[in-house]
Amino acid sequence: MVLLLRASTCTLIARHVPLLSSARLQHRRSLFFAAKTFSRSASSAASKRARSHVHASIVQAGGITISREDVVKEDDPTNNVPDSVFWKLGLQLHRRDDHPLGILKNEIYKFFEDKFPGKYQKFDDLSPIVSVTSNFDDVLVPPDHVSRRYNDTYYINSDTVLRTHTSAHQAQKLREGCTHFLVTGDVYRRDSIDATHYPVFHQMEGFRVFSPAEWDASGMDGTSFALQDLKETLEGLAKRLFGDVETRWVDTYFPFTNPSIELEIFFQGNWLEVLGCGVTEPAILENNGRAGTVAWAFGLGLERLAMVLFDIPDIRLFWSSDLRFTSQFKAGQLGIKFKPFSKFPPCYKDISFWISDSFTENNLCEVVRGIAGDLAEEVKLIDSFTNKKGMTSNCFRIAYRSMERSLTDDEINNLQARVREEVPGKLQVTLR
Ligand code: DAH
Repeated sequence: MVLLLRASTCTLIARHVPLLSSARLQHRRSLFFAAKTFSRSASSAASKRARSHVHASIVQAGGITISREDVVKEDDPTNNVPDSVFWKLGLQLHRRDDHPLGILKNEIYKFFEDKFPGKYQKFDDLSPIVSVTSNFDDVLVPPDHVSRRYNDTYYINSDTVLRTHTSAHQAQKLREGCTHFLVTGDVYRRDSIDATHYPVFHQMEGFRVFSPAEWDASGMDGTSFALQDLKETLEGLAKRLFGDVETRWVDTYFPFTNPSIELEIFFQGNWLEVLGCGVTEPAILENNGRAGTVAWAFGLGLERLAMVLFDIPDIRLFWSSDLRFTSQFKAGQLGIKFKPFSKFPPCYKDISFWISDSFTENNLCEVVRGIAGDLAEEVKLIDSFTNKKGMTSNCFRIAYRSMERSLTDDEINNLQARVREEVPGKLQVTLR
């Protein structure tokens, strides 16, 4: 059941803040359709090239130089990375000490450093471009798991993706001989548009290996020993971040752990999911030179925690370079609450069309983001019906809003006109 739930929402770990999330209807189709949908027309390729001059077409990440041409391949049907995502590579918000994500990362580092001085190796500059093998196979994600689809993952080609989670580095770090490590990085997923979803977000992975001598002395079996240590460690981390909160553990499913559990905290009247974790599947240890050991692993989403800890109401704000946002945070200060500098009204525009089999909401969101960028606040299915001929119509409401300024009617009408222009050709739907 839990597996099905995960599969249908297509995240391995939930990324939304329940309080803020809106109900979403997801349509998922085959990899083939999604890839075809995103082969671009010549005119859009030209407009993208024109726009790319404004931004750097080379970025640095994970000690390597990445050029736009390496990542965005408009004529390659096995590639579905848009320019808007390329421009995020290399920004590495989690490495800025005075950014909420960097402040949170450093606080978690401090927790591990205080509890286990010198024990944990920390990596926050590993390249987000990884093989399908590292991202999925090495952590035992089944071959038919929905998270592998083109609808959900950014593929550079059929063998290479933008990592969808920091678990992509588990096997590599084990092979390098690491036994205690934290990996922080930007991760990428094709997704819907709302206040808590953005195609790029940040995760931290934790991993600890135990040798038989460590659990033998306790009289427990390795799995029970690791599970107990995992719970103690993460309850301690939750208290460090949130103060003296009530915590609870919920059983769940992840392909890479067994048992798999989630930590929830009781915060401001609600149970809030904080992270996913569990005892590592023995095959991962065996396949990577650690047979006979037991390990635990966890993965947490930094935005999700930072939105709660800093009172940040919209995930787009993390990307803002507006001084009214950035100047509110100071290195080392976790407790600061964000004060909204102003709230500009949203403007809603509806678009209705007859869908085809290949239509997915993620593909629509990709088109909207490609045109409106961060001005797109939410895309929401507000009506759907099927007529006597079996044709299905969907109506989506797009909310446009800037976090930083008011938008003019002309500007919004222009964005909406471009959405209406691009949607039929890119998504094979018929406007109504
Ligand atoms: N990789 C998972 C995700 O992105 C998060 C996660 C869950 C990581 C459990 C772990 C783990 O290491 O044990 O959804």
